Amino acid sequence: MEELFIIENLSKSFGNKKVLHNISLRIFKGEIFTILGPSGVGKTTLLRILNLLEMPTTGKLIFNGKDTAILQKNNVMGRMSMLFQIPAVFNTSVFKNVAYGLQIRKMDKKTINIKVIDALALVGLAGFENQKALTLSGGEAQRMAFARAIVFKPDVILLDEPTANLDPANVAKIEEIIQKIRSELGTTIIMASHNIHQVRRLADRVGILLNGELIEVNTKDQIFTHPNDPRSIAFIKGDIIY
Ligand SMILES: Nc1ncnc2c1ncn2[C@@H]1O[C@H](COP(=O)(O)OP(=O)(O)O)[C@@H](O)[C@H]1O
Ligand SMILES: [Mg+2]
Repeated sequence: MEELFIIENLSKSFGNKKVLHNISLRIFKGEIFTILGPSGVGKTTLLRILNLLEMPTTGKLIFNGKDTAILQKNNVMGRMSMLFQIPAVFNTSVFKNVAYGLQIRKMDKKTINIKVIDALALVGLAGFENQKALTLSGGEAQRMAFARAIVFKPDVILLDEPTANLDPANVAKIEEIIQKIRSELGTTIIMASHNIHQVRRLADRVGILLNGELIEVNTKDQIFTHPNDPRSIAFIKGDIIY
C-alpha cells in the first residue's frame, strides 16, 4: 500500500500548552482512517496540521512523498479538502457554492457545469442547483459542503466530526456519501470523530487519540475486538466519559 501521509514524531504546542505529543502515523491511499477520541484531545488540531492550516511545532509531515516543511501551500491546494462540523455556506445558489473552487481555477463553463452536476448527484442534491444555499436544511447544507469538497477530485478529504450537528436520518445519508466517495472516486478519507458507533460503521483503520497522544493504531476489527492499550479498552467500553 502506498502512503499518502507519513507523520513522524510530530508535536504541536500553542504557547506553552502542548496539544499533540510525538505522533507517528502512516495513512495509506484510498483508506478511511479515523481519529477517534473524546473532546479536547487534539483531533481538530491534527487535521488542521494535515491540511497545512497549522505548522507542527516539531516533527515531520510528508504528503505524497514530499516534505511539507518545504512544500508551498499552493502546491497542495486542490489535492486536499477539509470539512468542518458546521458547513460553510455562501449567500448564493447551491450551484455557485459548489462551483466556487473551480471558478477560481478559471476552468471553462462547460466543464464546471458537468463537474458541479456530477458532484451534486453524488451527494443526492440533483435538482438543487438554483436553490439559495441559505435556505437548505442542516443536512442538505452539509451534503452541499461535501459536493464542494469533492468537485475538484482531491486526493484526500479531511472530515472533522462531519455529522456532529445532524439528526440520525442525515447522519445515515452522510455516512453513505462518505462510503460512496471512497468507492466511486477512490478518495482517501481521514475523519475525526468522538463517536465509537460511527467509527465502527465507517473506518478501515482507527487511531485512538487521548490527551494529545496516539495511544493505539490498528485495523477497525483489531481495535474493537482486541484493543492493546488498557486506555483503549476503557474508551471503547465507555468507561472514559466524553
Ligand atoms: N489556536 C489555539 N490556541 C490555543 N489552544 C488551542 C488552539 N487550538 C486548539 N487549542 C487547544 O488544543 C486542545 C485540543 O483542541 P482540539 O484539537 O480542538 O481538540 P478536539 O478536536 O479533539 O476536541 C484544546 O485544549 C484546545 O483548547
Ligand atoms: Mg474538534
